[in-house]
Amino acid sequence: MIITIVGGGSTFTAGIVKSIALRKAELEVDEIRLFDIDKERQDKVAVLVKWVLEEDLKSGIRLTVTYDPEAAYRDADFVFAQMRVGKYAMREKDEKISLAHGCVGQETCGCGGLAYGMRTIFPMIQVIDDAKKYAKPTHWILNYSNPAAIVSEACRKLRPDARIINICDMPIAIIDVVAAALEIKDKKEIVYDYYGLNHFGWFTSIEYRGEDIMGKLRDYIMEHQILLPDAYVKSVGKIAQNSGTEGNRHAKGSWYYVWKGVYEIMQNFPDTLPNTYLNYYLQQKEFVEHSDPDHTRANEVMETREKNLFEGIDHYLATGEIDESVFYAGSHGDWIADLAIALKNDTKARFLVITENRGAIPNMPYDAMVEVPAYIGKNGPEVIAQNPIPLFQQGLMMQQLTCEKLLVEGCVEGSYRKVLEAFTLNKTVPSMKVAKEVLDDMIEANKEYWPELK
Ligand code: G6P
Ligand code: MN
Repeated sequence: MIITIVGGGSTFTAGIVKSIALRKAELEVDEIRLFDIDKERQDKVAVLVKWVLEEDLKSGIRLTVTYDPEAAYRDADFVFAQMRVGKYAMREKDEKISLAHGCVGQETCGCGGLAYGMRTIFPMIQVIDDAKKYAKPTHWILNYSNPAAIVSEACRKLRPDARIINICDMPIAIIDVVAAALEIKDKKEIVYDYYGLNHFGWFTSIEYRGEDIMGKLRDYIMEHQILLPDAYVKSVGKIAQNSGTEGNRHAKGSWYYVWKGVYEIMQNFPDTLPNTYLNYYLQQKEFVEHSDPDHTRANEVMETREKNLFEGIDHYLATGEIDESVFYAGSHGDWIADLAIALKNDTKARFLVITENRGAIPNMPYDAMVEVPAYIGKNGPEVIAQNPIPLFQQGLMMQQLTCEKLLVEGCVEGSYRKVLEAFTLNKTVPSMKVAKEVLDDMIEANKEYWPELK
């Protein structure tokens, strides 16, 4: 049993490997392969991965580090993809170019997300094609690579038969925070209903051991005027990453605002718990106002998570001492490893996945890539049918979905007009003129990565 991690040089790799190794019995995994196109970066991360597998957990799992697609995918059972095309340097540009034009500057939302999507579509298709060529015919690709909404639409359109499931850890990270806020220890007993697009959705119910806790949660948020436990709020300013309580990763630096924004959204729309990412679409003006156009989330990550990781590895190489807080292990890796268990062992466990709607949300298009709960067995997700969604959410989702579909069509056809339509339609963009200005700057910045637009 072989698991290949694509984007082996990621700051998340060691954490994912730890989650896999801790589930060795259920996964029956013999070998983990790291695959990246950045050799220097992956070789560094591999030092830590080797420590996790051999020193920390004494797992007996074989580690292979490769830069060659055939060696990476050959006979693999699972491909865990978590690439970041253009790395943090391009994330910084996505965020800063958007902000320079007065638009939300965010990794996966608004213009930044559209630009990132244009970079990621074809590399993702390459992963699918290589896995099909070399991996076991029964392989599954579990994909974290962002922007997952756009990536999943591109996969549906270009490779409808691909054995890929696109996923996101944000809803589960939100549930972690909910559990911490309400002092729930066994968060595995929390069951929730949810619908939306990726980074664009709502929790409609949250139950703990069969009891509805949405009311209690709403009271907590209204009282504290934020969805964060007090302990997390105290450490918000300290953007040193990775240490401390699980869930904290999303409560550092500028992440603070989206947890505050959950309160602001619920003041007006109290019935559902919004995904934190909805803030970028519902409070776009306010987000631009409190953003620093010269120092964005990409800078925070480079100065903390990325720096700590590579310094920690250098320190280990020099001294033999390891500080485990330099890498994040927890829900992010657990979520993808648990999903693999459900597929492999045909458990029919319930997971939130990004999947073709096929009627699950009756008043959204059949072919929309939606994020909804599904039972996961060896043949993939069995989507759970839901009630029709309210008009407000339907309207928001249709605008966002259409924007994403236009972007994918524009990218595939090399159509400047369609991509401009996508930028113009995005809810974070105030006018057609601004859309065009941002797009033209993004084209310039992404010359190395985007297909040519005519
Ligand atoms: C959440 C989202 C991911 C996103 C990440 C960014 O986990 O689900 O899709 O990439 O946040 O976190 P960062 O710490 O890099 O800002
Ligand atoms: Mn995500």
